Amino acid sequence: MSDNNEVIGGGLEILKYPNPVLKKKSEDVTVFDEELAKFVQDLFAAMRAHDGVGLAAPQVGVLKRIAVVEYDGKSYVLINPRIVDQKGLQDGEEGCLSFPGIYAHVTRPQWVKIAAQDVTGETHEYEGEGYTARAFLHEMDHLTGKLFVDYLSSLKRNAIKKKAAKNTGGHF
Ligand code: NI
Repeated sequence: MSDNNEVIGGGLEILKYPNPVLKKKSEDVTVFDEELAKFVQDLFAAMRAHDGVGLAAPQVGVLKRIAVVEYDGKSYVLINPRIVDQKGLQDGEEGCLSFPGIYAHVTRPQWVKIAAQDVTGETHEYEGEGYTARAFLHEMDHLTGKLFVDYLSSLKRNAIKKKAAKNTGGHF
């Protein structure tokens, strides 16, 4: 297992913060073809190769509203996802494949119902509680360019920025 920028799993490279693509807004998927189905399989492969529970298309440089989640033995394809309903609040630790080795507490709804299309364009509703809700919402945020560190105080966020810069050798 490697945690640098090597291309493993689905042939996709996971972009690391502060890559500017991660802050961009993704566009709706309008074409449901074989290329889309292949891309979704590649996303799953990249996510599994990095032991992730979710991965969004912008994290591999594709600004389309596509994400995958796999948790508790269930796999979800989220294409053009939207929130239908949400309840409660939870506070818990969260990480992101674009921030290797960095975790922070983020408050999110305890329960969500979302609607999303699959690779054929059919719409499904999924309910997620606890960590599943957290994973859905974290991945959906990626599609609007929102990152989990955006929920933190500027003090905590700056500390994470410094740590991320050290990890990647990047500059701000
Ligand atoms: Ni993430």
